[in-house]
Amino acid sequence: MTDVLRVEHLGRVLPLAVPVTLLTDVSLAFQPASFTVITGPSGSGKSSLLYLLGLLDVPTTGEVFVDGTPTSALDDAARTRLRLAVFGFVFQFHFLLPEFTVLDNVMLPMRQLGRLTRPQMKDRAMELLAQLDMADQANKRPDALSGGQRQRTAVARALANDPPVVLADEPTGALDTKNAAAVFAILAGLAQQGRTVIAVTHDEGLAGTSPRRVHLVDGRVVRDAALG
Ligand SMILES: Nc1ncnc2c1ncn2[C@@H]1O[C@H](COP(=O)(O)OP(=O)(O)OP(=O)(O)O)[C@@H](O)[C@H]1O
Ligand SMILES: [Mg+2]
Repeated sequence: MTDVLRVEHLGRVLPLAVPVTLLTDVSLAFQPASFTVITGPSGSGKSSLLYLLGLLDVPTTGEVFVDGTPTSALDDAARTRLRLAVFGFVFQFHFLLPEFTVLDNVMLPMRQLGRLTRPQMKDRAMELLAQLDMADQANKRPDALSGGQRQRTAVARALANDPPVVLADEPTGALDTKNAAAVFAILAGLAQQGRTVIAVTHDEGLAGTSPRRVHLVDGRVVRDAALG
């Protein structure tokens, strides 16, 4: 089976006056229907790795393969198209647009990809919101929601284009314990439905619920363990 996402010997150095090494020689492969957590101390490179995995950043050395195809030679437009089709992102702070309704926020990635008609976009967005128990909030603006509701909206937005891969950076970092567990359970459920889910977390309790844990220290993978 081809890995949905694979990185080989990934390195990222920021070319500053004094160069900053973010990642060194990271090789990882991710299969469909898998849930992986990435852990590590603050500054160990977790966010940097997620940006590279999601084609939001370009490695200095090494290669990111999507469905077995190398991505380093893509121009910006092709990279953006691939990113929109393959990845959904959830961040610690939801980054919902405050002047848009919940529904419009969820429709936004569909409008960017431009594959559906407007009624199709609306139907799909409402379906996703219903799955996340958010249908009755569709016409509210983000500032009228609770933290958990905002993050569930962000998950719905991440799923807008039905991406095979969902990347989440501290998705529960701004939530209380109960909402954090709920959002993590939603992410685990997405993996059970067939998606590749990769989530950065600081939370040891939540990390322990995942079947696989990749641990970074100083920009290197020091442990890649199946838990069970
Ligand atoms: N633009 C930048 N300039 C200088 N150093 C940077 C820059 N961006 C990142 N770094 C450094 O790169 C390292 C890795 O950062 P990264 O954000 O990936 O870590 P992280 O594991 O996500 O940390 P956290 O748990 O705090 O979110 C850190 O030491 C950080 O200070
Ligand atoms: Mg980070």
